[in-house]
Amino acid sequence: MSENVIIFDTTLRDGEQSPGASMNTAEKLRLATQLEKLGVDVLEAGFPVASEGDFDAVTNIAAKLKKTEVAALARTSKGDLDRAWGAIQNAAKPRIHTFIATSDIHLEYKLKMSREAVVKAAVEAVKYSRSFTDNVEFSAEDGSRSDRDFLCKVFEAVIEAGATTINLPDTVGYAIPEEFSDLVKYVKSHTPNIHKAVLSVHCHNDLGLATANTIAAINAGARQAEVTINGIGERAGNTSLEEVVMALHTRPNYLPASTRIKTDQIYPTSRLVSMITGIMVQPNKAIVGANAFAHEAGIHQDGVLKNPMTYEIMKPETIGLSANKLVLGKHSGRHALRSHLKDLGYDLSDEELKIVFKKFKELADKKKHVVDEDLEVIVTEGILRTTEIFDLEYLHVTCGTTVLPMASVKLSINGRSVRGAGYGNGPIDAAFNAIAKLAGAGSELLRFSISAITGGTDAQGEVTVRLSENGLIALGRGADPDIITASAKAYVNGLNRLEYLKAHPVEVVA
Ligand code: KIV
Ligand code: ZN
Repeated sequence: MSENVIIFDTTLRDGEQSPGASMNTAEKLRLATQLEKLGVDVLEAGFPVASEGDFDAVTNIAAKLKKTEVAALARTSKGDLDRAWGAIQNAAKPRIHTFIATSDIHLEYKLKMSREAVVKAAVEAVKYSRSFTDNVEFSAEDGSRSDRDFLCKVFEAVIEAGATTINLPDTVGYAIPEEFSDLVKYVKSHTPNIHKAVLSVHCHNDLGLATANTIAAINAGARQAEVTINGIGERAGNTSLEEVVMALHTRPNYLPASTRIKTDQIYPTSRLVSMITGIMVQPNKAIVGANAFAHEAGIHQDGVLKNPMTYEIMKPETIGLSANKLVLGKHSGRHALRSHLKDLGYDLSDEELKIVFKKFKELADKKKHVVDEDLEVIVTEGILRTTEIFDLEYLHVTCGTTVLPMASVKLSINGRSVRGAGYGNGPIDAAFNAIAKLAGAGSELLRFSISAITGGTDAQGEVTVRLSENGLIALGRGADPDIITASAKAYVNGLNRLEYLKAHPVEVVA
């Protein structure tokens, strides 16, 4: 019988630290609900001391989830720990996750603390956390670059103080699998009370080795993996949940552990994360990329037709990627829509259903078959983006081979409609210029990308933009059967996200 690996998902905390990936509370709640459906054991909901918005989101998630443990991150100070506990105290299963760096480079330059002072701070933080809950995780930040014996000393002390999980992060993504496996074994054999806690790992992907390091650590005895959906996160990201889970699932003969993840929820969760954050999944991404199950070469196609297992080591259905998706059309009623949305994980109120149904009918008029991906767009754009400042009410463009591209736009700004026009070197440029003028936007467009949500010429175009203003970076996303409208929606969404970031400053955490 294989042992269980606890899946600790930090999409909402470390994942949100991806540049531009900020999410509002409604979006975080929706994602948290989906992560519970996916079956993650622990969900790190945020860093409550970092901002009011984070505190609110963690509080709401803690109140909502009943099966999943909800963790809140805190440094070792009482202020951080009070704030973390304040946000999760009503959770069915709360966990405080406290951390301090243990590598000499962090001690000398960042913390300016001695090793003794770090041990003391870690122990006091764990003891203080235990006065709130008996579920306390301690992380040794930059653990993989720390002196091994000091690391073990810290772990021994925090376990003695009551930590129930100890986490070994490869914070800067520096480790190599064999080396990391060796470190896990070292910690296991040189921390005398290690059997009293769960040993966890948390890897970053700077060298593209996060999954390999995590798997190596599990093979060496770690029993919690800290991961994010699609591997999003700070810099090059974190270990991706789907890669670890599917590696364990696909190679049980080689790997000694399994997870409680409902693998058929992996693809819907991946889609939801890219939809909400605006961070698209690269086509060749393992497990959830658009090409992960696509066979281009004739010899492969021939083999797969004869027996899928010739070239497919996993079935697409196992991750929830089904060819037989239920399609709805313009004759589908409100009842069918509600029940299908419920299957997708959206339990809408009557008021919300009214909004979604109207948008669904509008789309079904333009597009014969409305599939799951289309519905996700409608719900994300119509329901989750609640506190919007700018709303695109109307867009008209003229363009072609003989005219100067021009766009006229009606924008609602805090509920007040304004109109304007703009020129550009193409219809998208013209639309952006018109919107920017009306919104008084001073942001710079760093990136623009476009793709199709599904196959077929009537597919919706999906546009993402990356905007920057005074050091803030926001991603915007929009979808529409018309790609110029999709672009304008993405730009307006990016502007809204910038406004959200300005209104919710995040404390820089050292
Ligand atoms: O990467 C890291 O070290 C972290 C810790 C807070 C666990 O994210
Ligand atoms: Zn991290």
